[in-house]
Order: sequence, then C-alpha cells, then structure tokens
Amino acid sequence: MPLVVLGIESTAHTFGVGIAREDGKILANINSTYIPIHGGILPREAARHHANVAHKIILKALEKADIRLEEIDGIAVALGPGLGPCLRVGAFIARILALSYDKPLIPVNHAVAHVEIARLTVCARDPLFVYVSGGNTQIVAYSQGRYRVFGETLDIPIGNFFDTLARELGLPQPGTPQIEKLAIKGKNIIDLPYIVKGQDVSYSGLLTAILRKFKEDVCLEDLCLSAMEYAYAMLAEVVERALAHTQKRELVLAGGVARSKRLQEIMQCVAEEHDAIFKVVPDEYAGDNGAMIAWTGVLCLKSGITIQPEESVIRQRWRIDEVDVPWMQ
Ligand code: FE2
Repeated sequence: MPLVVLGIESTAHTFGVGIAREDGKILANINSTYIPIHGGILPREAARHHANVAHKIILKALEKADIRLEEIDGIAVALGPGLGPCLRVGAFIARILALSYDKPLIPVNHAVAHVEIARLTVCARDPLFVYVSGGNTQIVAYSQGRYRVFGETLDIPIGNFFDTLARELGLPQPGTPQIEKLAIKGKNIIDLPYIVKGQDVSYSGLLTAILRKFKEDVCLEDLCLSAMEYAYAMLAEVVERALAHTQKRELVLAGGVARSKRLQEIMQCVAEEHDAIFKVVPDEYAGDNGAMIAWTGVLCLKSGITIQPEESVIRQRWRIDEVDVPWMQ
C-alpha cells in the first residue's frame, strides 16, 4: 500500500489540511483563510480563526480523500517559519492526532513545502526556485543536502510590500492583484529607489519612497506601474545572477505572488535568456495550503524524518537552509 500522509498548515493566515499519497497524488486540499477586518494580520485573531475552523477542515479533507484517520500513515505539520500563535494551533492539533491515533509526527518546514509542492506539480527535477509570498522572498536551489539561499529580501517580503502598499493606497487585500490591475493602466514609470545589495533586495525603502510620491499627487496608476516594475526588476536581476551561478536548467516560480502575470512574464524572459525551462506553480498550490505540508510529509516520512510529540516545538524563524532534504540526493 502506498504511504498516505495528512498535513496541517497554520503558519499565518491560512488553516489548511491536505492529504497526499506516496505516488504524488493529492487526495485532498482544504483550506480556510482568515481575512483581517482592518489592516494587516493580527496573529492572535488568525490563531482564533484556525482553532475555530480546524475540526471542520480536518473532517472535510478526510471526506474528500475518502479515508479514515486510522488509515493515515503519518501526521505532518508546519512547525515554522511563521507566527507563534498561529503555529501553536497547528502543532497542538497535530500532536493530539499523532498521539491519539498512534501515528508518526512529521516536522515540516513551510518554505521547503512551498518549493516541494511546486516541484511536484510542475514536474521539475532540480530547479532554481523563486519563492515569493507575503511572508518570504527567497531564491533557492538544491546543493549538497539542502536548499540553499541564492538571494533574499533584507527587510519586508515582496507580498508584504504589495499588501502594505495597497492598504496605504486605500485598495483592498490581497495587494498584489490590486496593484497589478491598476499598473496595467499606468503609462509612465516614475523615478524610485532601486535597491539591490549583492544578491539581496530591499523593499522597505521603495515602499517609503512610493508613499511619499503618493502624497505628492502622482497618478495612482503610474505609481502602481512603477512599484511593480521596480520590485520585479530588482528580483529579476538577482534571479538572473543566481541562474548563471547555479547553472540550473529549470526556473520555477512558487509562493502566493507566483500568481502575478507580470512577474511570470518577466521570469519567462529571464529563463529564456539562460536556456532554462520556466514553470509556475498552479494557482491552487501557490498560496499557503495543506497539500504542500502533506506532500512534504510524504517525502520526510520516506526518508525517516519524524519527531517525538514532546520535542515538536514551533520554530518561528526556521530557515529553509537549516533543513536537510535527503530525498534530493
Ligand atoms: Fe507561505
């Protein structure tokens, strides 16, 4: 019988449960996202949302997969990186399930899960990943036992940059599609700070500069166009160098911001220039979801990676390059 793993995602605004089978089939992917009423995400409110929906989401996932908890081979959970109160809800539920049903508990790194679900769903072998979301902006590729970082943001992640910008401009959330919608109508690129330091990018200075321009009555569409072009151009520069350096033959866009059509266009060009095949994670698996934790749980379990419930502490700053990925060898 092929292994089947149930995975729980609760690192930020989404509580998700996925069920994945060893052959790569996703049997269920049920997610519920907390939408803040005002401003940004409030960790405690998001955690309350997760605790409230958990029971219903688990049952829905089991029903969708047509499987009982007794038949599951392992319980995977994202132990980090993420927001403390949110992580604790998922970890608590996963420990209870593992103990009650006598199943191995599998610790999953959320960032590894984003790239692994992308690798599975686009059928990539060993790509350079551009992992862009509200919580992360990293360029990663496999080398010597781990996913290594070949560039990242020095301050706020790109998704957070667009969300904050949208909020300050009075636009709805999530920010990236809103900014993109207005950017299409923009005509002029205005002068903004372009901040690339070595292989890293910085978005907070860009954000401050744009908000200053906003107060100077610059056309909103031009502002959105410029924000998007600057943010993506900075990223493209470091991706291009990373591709040249790592010599990877595939370029894969992963994470929630991967849905951006403009970013896809730019990365397609970068890939073509370096004879790499370009692929984008499907929409369903771009944002945070339970399936990515379940699938990475399968990979971990097959490599013998499990954890005792009493040792399964959450790790809010657990970096992708701290995680061994023996299945890539
Ligand atoms: Fe994420």
